[in-house]
Amino acid sequence: MSSPYEQKKHQSKGDVVWHHSTVTHQDRVLQKGQTPVVLWFTGLSGSGKSTIANAVESQLMQQGKYSYLLDGDNVRHGLNKDLGFSDTDRVENIRRIGEVAKLFVDSGSIVLTAFISPFISDREQVRKILEPDPFLEVFVDTPLDICESRDPKGLYKKARAGEIKQFTGIDSEYQAPVNPEIHIKTAEYSIEECAIQVVNKLEGLGYLKGAQ
Ligand SMILES: Nc1ncnc2c1ncn2[C@@H]1O[C@H](COP(=O)(O)OP(=O)(O)OP(=O)(O)O)[C@@H](O)[C@H]1O
Ligand SMILES: [Mg+2]
Repeated sequence: MSSPYEQKKHQSKGDVVWHHSTVTHQDRVLQKGQTPVVLWFTGLSGSGKSTIANAVESQLMQQGKYSYLLDGDNVRHGLNKDLGFSDTDRVENIRRIGEVAKLFVDSGSIVLTAFISPFISDREQVRKILEPDPFLEVFVDTPLDICESRDPKGLYKKARAGEIKQFTGIDSEYQAPVNPEIHIKTAEYSIEECAIQVVNKLEGLGYLKGAQ
């Protein structure tokens, strides 16, 4: 079985010819005993995306599952350090993250991403990049006043003081998911409980057992 990643590359580009792997996607999936998926965490700054994604990874690790977390700031330190926050760069940022997530899915991993990703169109774009790989939108739903009172990085303070412009939730819009696959309310549940909700959903959808 060729992976969705390989299938896309059948459309060869000029002299760039796809080299098929000896170890197949199916081999990797069977080896890991799980079904790869992308969990796309979205929510305001301070809503808890990184915190919950980390807690989910810990629980998956305890179950012997393979995962990898792509976190917003970390990606901007390396792979995307040449990108700023213009519209063009924002789209390129998401495109690259989508392509990296696709590689990890090809490897058989459960991929978690933690980016504010405030616009519905951006999230739809990445869902399309990943097709036909499974993509689950995880809405980390935390009211703005709670995010602002947590302010773990001091960013709201700076945004209110006008030191950061176009800050999501303050002077830039956050477009909440309309129909997210997973909806987490961090004001009502502990970090641990929120992570359990995500893991239970993965379990319920069959991602924690071998290929479906
Ligand atoms: N139930 C909860 N779930 C998640 N985080 C919680 C919860 N209760 C309190 N917190 C706290 O809220 C903060 C969330 O910060 P975190 O860095 O995870 O947000 P983020 O969504 O990744 O923000 P950013 O987009 O700026 O990276 C942490 O300090 C965390 O300890
Ligand atoms: Mg974060």
